[in-house]
Amino acid sequence: MERLWWHDAVIYHVYPRSFLDTDGDGVGDLPGVRRRLPYLARLGVDALWLSPFFASPMADFGYDVSDHTAVDPLFGSLADFDELLDAAHGHGLRVLIDYVPNHTSDRHRWFRDARADPAGPRRDWYVWRDPSPGGGPPNNWITLFGDSAWTREEAGGQYYLHSFLPSMPDLNWRNPAVQEAMFDVARFWLDRGVDGFRVDCAPLIAKDPLLRDNPPAATGTSAHHRDLGGFDSQLHLHDQGHPDLHPRYRDLRALLDSYGEPGERIALGEVHEYDWPAWSRYFGRDLDELNLPINFGLLGTDWHPEAIRTTVRAILDAVPAGAVVTWVMGSHDDPRVASRVGPAQAANAMLLLLTLPGTAILYNGDELGMPDAAVPPERIRDPWGLRTPALSRDHARSPMPWSPDSPSCGFTATGVEPWLPVTTPPGGTVRDQEADPSSLLSLTRDLLALRRAGAALHGAGLAFLDSPPGVLAYTRSPGPGSPPGAGGDLLVTLNLTDRAVPLDHLLTPRPSGGPWRRVFTTARTRDAAHTGQGALAPAEGAVWSAGDGGGPHRT
Ligand code: NOJ
Repeated sequence: MERLWWHDAVIYHVYPRSFLDTDGDGVGDLPGVRRRLPYLARLGVDALWLSPFFASPMADFGYDVSDHTAVDPLFGSLADFDELLDAAHGHGLRVLIDYVPNHTSDRHRWFRDARADPAGPRRDWYVWRDPSPGGGPPNNWITLFGDSAWTREEAGGQYYLHSFLPSMPDLNWRNPAVQEAMFDVARFWLDRGVDGFRVDCAPLIAKDPLLRDNPPAATGTSAHHRDLGGFDSQLHLHDQGHPDLHPRYRDLRALLDSYGEPGERIALGEVHEYDWPAWSRYFGRDLDELNLPINFGLLGTDWHPEAIRTTVRAILDAVPAGAVVTWVMGSHDDPRVASRVGPAQAANAMLLLLTLPGTAILYNGDELGMPDAAVPPERIRDPWGLRTPALSRDHARSPMPWSPDSPSCGFTATGVEPWLPVTTPPGGTVRDQEADPSSLLSLTRDLLALRRAGAALHGAGLAFLDSPPGVLAYTRSPGPGSPPGAGGDLLVTLNLTDRAVPLDHLLTPRPSGGPWRRVFTTARTRDAAHTGQGALAPAEGAVWSAGDGGGPHRT
């Protein structure tokens, strides 16, 4: 298979509102992202994905787009975007931007037209229905926030569909004019030079054409990686994931592939599907749909070796031959990984993310070990958090702490209050961590260098090893078929406990080979170094090189 840039890329996810504020309004902006490109280049990532910066009333912080081809003044201008894109490319960084096909803002011109003229051509760009025969919404579909997905228009009495807020009406992709208009949006950004898109809510663009009710879900079950409250009261059989989405993603892929060499511009897809064979269908039968459907499997997996092994194996088993898998540990929608696994394990979470085969998405701040921010009730901004505080996503969106010497930790140059409270991780701000070789930031940079340096971490080969309790161990090799211990193999060992663990037979050299050499460790303090060669310090993650041929015992 020809290697393309995204086959083993590390994509850094920037949440622009929270990255760096250069104009003193308390909200991050595009010039702020540009100013921090040297930081990202030093870190060693391959690409950025920018969450939405388009014109928007910000009811859902930019996922409610009112003009797809304008930059919201909060974030800057189109010229700022062009400068950012050029500068990123100058640093060798690719740029992916968010693409939100399922819905628009109700202030979008398309919806205003649809609303104003029920007989007009734009009406059918959205999903309108009469009330059900007994009155009330046309069916039982609910939003992510747990209430009805239908809102009734006073004028005319019809309902329109919205999978999220009432101010975010769903587009009707069954109308070919919608696809055409949204593909024009894609062309607009591709013509400017973006390297691709992160497709928001990829499964949602095709729903049951008969709009059948969703069946109830058994109580206490979540088909997601975390409990989503009211949303989990139904099985979402009919309001997403209809097979009619496949031709649309084939068309999108053809559009992307028509720019330059096929495979240069890509679609990364947000796919919250936890049935792995069903998830894998988003690659397309001939790998001709989404290049990289994201799997969110690790986010809902307990931090135990057996649970991680089971998830990773199930996902890798479902990936079609020739396809590339994409891993995430955190996002602007999820609890922070450092809080989920605990600060002592944050480095291991990074080690896992960056040593699994395929592509990784690194959410801004996770390289610092950012914990969930404490957001007092009066500072909650997330529309979901305003309804259900326990599900608020604000805690994962707190501003990047750049330096220790100002109340906003360098996020905003002025004395203005950042849009969300600032949190400093245990290892300190970026400036502190850059100066500290044992910080998570330094570890992440070293890991990214290790990832670039050897064939093993680029390859698809992964074999889990029989390991002592509490330890996750696997080898990585250039190809799935290459035998363990063959040239260039690496052994990855993660101690998920807070005790030192001897590695015993894992490190036993075969008669023909030399010993495994520790080429990377997360334990860089003097205490940890005392643990010795044949053991892992508490919470230590290490990478070992096969050296001159020593091999581990495989299960
Ligand atoms: C997924 C996005 O990641 C999330 O932040 C947003 O609320 C929904 N899609 C709606 O666009």
